[in-house]
Amino acid sequence: AAGTGAPAPSLGFKAIPVSAADSVVVPEGYRVQTFIPWGTPINGDMPAFSLDASGEDQAQQVGSHHDGMHFLPLDGSSRDGLLVLNHEYVEPRYLHGAAQGLALDSEGFPQHEDGSRDPDQVLKELNAHGVSVVRVRQGADGQWQVVEDARNRRITGLTPMRLAGPVAGTGHVVTKFSPDGSMTRGTLNNCSSGVTPWNTYLAAEENWAGYFANEDPEIDRRQARYGIQTRDTGRYQWHRAAGGADETLRFDASSRGASARDDYRNEPHAFGYMVEIDPMDPQSTPVKRTHLGRFAHEGVIFAPAVEGQPVVCYSGDDARFEYIYKFVSARPFHAATADGSLLDEGTLHVAKFHDNGSGEWLALAPGENGLTPENGFTDLADILVNTRSAADHVGATRMDRPEWGAVDPVTGRVYFTLTNNTRREPGQEDAANPRSDNGFGHIIRWQEDGSHAGTRFAWDLFMLGGDRENGRNPAGEPLGDDAIFASPDGLWIDPDRRVWIQTDISESVMNNGIYEVFGNNQMLAATPESGEIKRFLTGPVGQEITGVITTPDQRTMFVNVQHPGATTDAEAFAAGDFASHWPEGGSAVPRSATLVITREDGGIIGA
Ligand code: FEO
Ligand code: CA
Ligand code: CA
Ligand code: CA
Repeated sequence: AAGTGAPAPSLGFKAIPVSAADSVVVPEGYRVQTFIPWGTPINGDMPAFSLDASGEDQAQQVGSHHDGMHFLPLDGSSRDGLLVLNHEYVEPRYLHGAAQGLALDSEGFPQHEDGSRDPDQVLKELNAHGVSVVRVRQGADGQWQVVEDARNRRITGLTPMRLAGPVAGTGHVVTKFSPDGSMTRGTLNNCSSGVTPWNTYLAAEENWAGYFANEDPEIDRRQARYGIQTRDTGRYQWHRAAGGADETLRFDASSRGASARDDYRNEPHAFGYMVEIDPMDPQSTPVKRTHLGRFAHEGVIFAPAVEGQPVVCYSGDDARFEYIYKFVSARPFHAATADGSLLDEGTLHVAKFHDNGSGEWLALAPGENGLTPENGFTDLADILVNTRSAADHVGATRMDRPEWGAVDPVTGRVYFTLTNNTRREPGQEDAANPRSDNGFGHIIRWQEDGSHAGTRFAWDLFMLGGDRENGRNPAGEPLGDDAIFASPDGLWIDPDRRVWIQTDISESVMNNGIYEVFGNNQMLAATPESGEIKRFLTGPVGQEITGVITTPDQRTMFVNVQHPGATTDAEAFAAGDFASHWPEGGSAVPRSATLVITREDGGIIGA
């Protein structure tokens, strides 16, 4: 990559080796505190963590499977703020404790003999999903603590939400719960997140399709293109909660009533969006912003807002051969008045990467690029509900699982991780996805031609993940032992331009075969121009490292550890022999948690 003239960040820490230990390792001179593990009480009756906690207790405790995260300072402080984090999903075997007295199904969910599920266990699973808002403060001893505060809040799979943008109020989202299509309940599978230029938080809805069942003989592209199958295959089986309450029956999208007002055939059409949350206002209703598209949203990253210019944000669809999208607002940004309504009018685009290093953004809008009623796209709401089908139609570039994005604060260059795609076959390679059977993943980046709102860009590959033989830095040089990585997922560029890369080698393959050399999932830091890369952190067994943010002074970094012990097989689980007992150790059930990283000398993280 050519030099940009931008100041290069320092990577002054001593790189650490790979690790297969059930612990967190950081470089010499760094400290790590384990913080807010799943089940930590934050509001209401403050119920203490217990494996026997009820579904209601869980709604007053930190959720499970910590993921995307942001620190919102209070009065600009770097020692006092709201930590806002996603809870992507649950591990039922750990969530309900080891002695639940019910047989586990093939996914580890306890069920009765007739296949029905315990309603309180289902409630606990719904409430362990979503988002936590937690006030956190650093004490004089340097340790961070939870502070009881009126803003502490759990948003869950049951929280009422408003739909906004072109899909809101249309027939696509009419349900028994919301006959006018204006509302829905809950957000699910919140992977990464984003922060708007007006300081609200956006939670992504990623693998939401796996929560729904549909037994109709035929289902249309609004569900079929997203993986909902005609057979009753939902992973969670929430619609089977004994007693059949409305809020759990809705996960069966089969047509049962006389019209859409009488059942939940449209319920899945209210999922797959970016959800805007105002952490400062605990009474606020979260809003699903439908104009940002409907797909398996990994997250969203905003370009730096410019007064008088459109708001621009980027979002990846994390599935094999899916796409990278960009939204450009119709109205300009004005700091004094900006709010979420800016995301309700504008144009969604999808990326096409040409093999010569140029690229273009194709508009997904009525009449553009063949998106006409004759071709099966009746209007804007229809295009957005069927974002994937619209992107297929315009001929966008099918990518190797787009995950997180980040924008270089100085050059404006946009980076995206492409985690892996072992289904890309020989002959299906292109310049932007250059490897078939891509088990290691890569990172792509581009510079927009002119402003972020433009339609042309120039791209190159930043890194190829891999071992010493297959990994490459931007100069095309092999990665050394301190730099090898695979399956890049989390990504963040700090104010000094350090590129933080987090890995998510799947629990089904980690520490095995071609992945053995990488050890446990980890975090590395890289420089944008020279492409120097150094391993900064390694996590415990069976987890992924995901979510990263610092305080404004960059002296405290928050990082999440998700699903430790996920590698435990059924036999070992039955024997109580979990692959991880992190963080408590001993015979404890493993729990997702946040890491708080500081330097012994109080310096900037990574410098
Ligand atoms: Fe939830 Fe794409 O990782
Ligand atoms: Ca992820
Ligand atoms: Ca994952
Ligand atoms: Ca991932």
